[in-house]
Amino acid sequence: MSIALLLFCFYKLRYLGPNPLTTDNLVTLSESPSAVHELALYKTLEPGELNQRIAAVRELLGDSLLILGHHYQQDEVIEHSDLRGDSYKLSQMAAESKACKTIVFCGVHFMAETADILANHPDKVQQRDGRRVSVLLPDLAAGCSMADMAAIAQVEAAWADMSEVIDTEQVIPVTYVNSAASLKAFCGRHGGIVCTSSNAKAVIEWAFERGQRVFFFPDQHLGRNTALELEIEESEMPVWDPYALDLGGNTEEAIHASRVILWKGHCSVHQMFRPEHVESLRTQHPGIKILVHPECPRSVNDLADVSGSTGKIIDTVQNSPAGTKWAIGTELHLVNRLKAEHPEQEIHFLSPVVCMCATMYRIDLPHLCWTLENLRDGSVVNEINVDAETGKWSLIALERMLAVH
Ligand code: 13P
Ligand code: SF4
Repeated sequence: MSIALLLFCFYKLRYLGPNPLTTDNLVTLSESPSAVHELALYKTLEPGELNQRIAAVRELLGDSLLILGHHYQQDEVIEHSDLRGDSYKLSQMAAESKACKTIVFCGVHFMAETADILANHPDKVQQRDGRRVSVLLPDLAAGCSMADMAAIAQVEAAWADMSEVIDTEQVIPVTYVNSAASLKAFCGRHGGIVCTSSNAKAVIEWAFERGQRVFFFPDQHLGRNTALELEIEESEMPVWDPYALDLGGNTEEAIHASRVILWKGHCSVHQMFRPEHVESLRTQHPGIKILVHPECPRSVNDLADVSGSTGKIIDTVQNSPAGTKWAIGTELHLVNRLKAEHPEQEIHFLSPVVCMCATMYRIDLPHLCWTLENLRDGSVVNEINVDAETGKWSLIALERMLAVH
């Protein structure tokens, strides 16, 4: 096998998983053997039957069930969500959930962890006489490649290394919500905070009111694009590579001169958008406006007319007059939905290649139906349960975020 083929296979397995465009991979290694068999049966069902069965469970469980859907979910899944939103809105919905006993989270793992932490705030559990809300993720393999780029041991090692050079009492750690709960807990313990793409600017300002520097992980692009808005120079933003031997690959001088230390992580979907795509669409469609998610690299974000969270992308299109031309740089399912919902506008996908989130796509009708019918039958599958200690510290960092927005 050639080296190029080996590298391609590694990339595909690491970032895409088994072929995301087929439905052959409904069963993942994360499920138990009995679940594997059950899911294989659900996979044989037609969408019409799955839709009917999902609707029947929703009807039966009523308000005790809340299905949350992230904007990147497939249309067939989104149609079954009680509420949909961007990461920030979904966090708020989980924090405010009242009547429900179970949240089925149609999104990715870090979102379900966040929902578990917020829906099971100790005060709320007390108000419910000790009853916890169960948060279920229909496919346990629905992760986030960006979140996987920062492990807690790596973040702790980086913190220890930088403390040899700078006073970490003056460094405020900020984790993007796209991260494991352990990283949110790290921020909670060290006077830090969580941000989402919709409040990153306000969160970084909050951090600078409390310290001299920010340590931002795991998305270097959101960190850089936001810090640039705050007029911080790129030369003041060294990138910390967790695999480099010394100081994340930086000199002592660079760390001393830093204002924002960026983790070397990115989104494998948004990194696919390139400045040449912007140029080509502007040439082909004069007057077109470019609308991107801030997880795109700086070279694209700087060229955009509007940049913002998935919620802001939707609002921007919704509030635009008929005839507006857009090229949108975010996950394909959301862009296709906007195209279908806004025929009065002209909407293009920013990239000529398919940029879809393979892990979001793992949540599908068979997994949703399997999760719900098990719940109806008294069997709770795929529960996401953050341990008490991690939950306690993560909650502190999340509550700081909710207070800032
Ligand atoms: P939003 O917070 O904008 O919904 O983004 C989440 C995400 O994972 C984008 O890739
Ligand atoms: Fe993670 Fe990117 Fe998918 Fe968002 S689009 S969930 S950042 S891999």
